[in-house]
Amino acid sequence: MNTTLKEGIDWVGYIDWTVRDFHGYKTDSGSTYNAYLIRDEKCAVIDAVKAQYVDKYIARIQALTDLKNISYVVCNHAEPDHSGGLPGIMEACPQAELVCNAKCKDALEKHFDTSAWKWRIVEDGDSISLGKRTLSFINTPMVHWPESMFTYVPEDKLLFSMDAFGQHFATAFRFDDEEPLDVIMQEAKAYYANIVMLYGRPIAQTLDRAAELEIEMIAPSHGVIWRSHLKEVLAAYRKWVVCKPTPKVIVLYASMWQATEHMAEAILEGVQEHEVEARFYNVDATHSTQIATEVLDCAAIAIGSPTLNNTLMPNLAGVLCYLKGLRPTQKKGFAFGSYGWSKRGGASEVEDAMKEMKIELMQEPIRSQYVPTPEILEQCREAGRAMGRYAEQFTK
Ligand SMILES: Cc1cc2nc3c(=O)[nH]c(=O)nc-3n(C[C@H](O)[C@H](O)[C@H](O)COP(=O)(O)O)c2cc1C
Repeated sequence: MNTTLKEGIDWVGYIDWTVRDFHGYKTDSGSTYNAYLIRDEKCAVIDAVKAQYVDKYIARIQALTDLKNISYVVCNHAEPDHSGGLPGIMEACPQAELVCNAKCKDALEKHFDTSAWKWRIVEDGDSISLGKRTLSFINTPMVHWPESMFTYVPEDKLLFSMDAFGQHFATAFRFDDEEPLDVIMQEAKAYYANIVMLYGRPIAQTLDRAAELEIEMIAPSHGVIWRSHLKEVLAAYRKWVVCKPTPKVIVLYASMWQATEHMAEAILEGVQEHEVEARFYNVDATHSTQIATEVLDCAAIAIGSPTLNNTLMPNLAGVLCYLKGLRPTQKKGFAFGSYGWSKRGGASEVEDAMKEMKIELMQEPIRSQYVPTPEILEQCREAGRAMGRYAEQFTK
């Protein structure tokens, strides 16, 4: 496995082949916790790994240098998948300074016993010389937490981008040109949608700042390192930060006795009369991770639920809660659903959730008392056609 980014700069992280859950994000492809060692007149380690893999991380560092040579341990992000190993490395390298911004220090102190750590608090724009190379620091608040920071090495045109541009993707290879591009772009998209979609604005600002830097390589804290396809991932991020619609329509629903499902099928039929991509998701059959990934760049979404005990189906409510938190923008749609005896609950609550998500409503909810009649199914088809027509305009 080639772990060398540039002469004297190596990957010293951990490949987590078996992790399948990241705070609700289903990581079917595993992940990596990327950490890096820079060997110069002074040596620096960039980031750490999850606590349980600290020994393997330290062993990788030791294979390249004596731990006594480590002058700095940089923490770009305080989340435990990158900071969990810090107590271990700081104990193994008592001479090293922990380099981070003030917000990160505050967060680390609230996670770990840091009483023995030496600190070097940096501000946006500060730099530290390692000898031939410089570490310069760029605060990137809310990409992904308030303390998030990039570390840039101008001499190598190398950006350590923490969670930005990451992918939950375990592979034996460390670089973007060693895996199929469509696979890593899909993983990068899933990561963006499920981890940082709600931070589109700060990420857009960060992209503007990154555009001022000369960058040959982007080394994120998860997944492969971008050295051959920077242009592609940066262009994709420009689209994702605004949830740019593509000609794609989603029909998402829950159903107990298939009445709402038949409505969903009729909506789909209408959509398919247009030359657009369609996605059809029963919440019981599709994980919210995949739904969020597809919502990121859809143009329109119809969401349906029957009424159960005066409310909507709890499995759909969970997905809507997740999507609401991720705050997709630039979407249109409508609610639908079947009920028995009361128009409250079901479709009405779905519509309320869609309003909270600021999805632009294309029409009133479509409701069916019990099994939908041919007239109601035709209403569904017509609403599907309207979504298809709308989405079609995003065809290049
Ligand atoms: C357990 C249960 C609870 C229900 N609660 C309500 C309710 O509170 N209000 C209502 O109008 N209909 C209620 N219904 C009726 C359903 O909304 C109705 O049967 C609907 O057609 C089901 O749609 P589906 O076939 O898509 O599951 C309930 C049905 C079931 C099975």
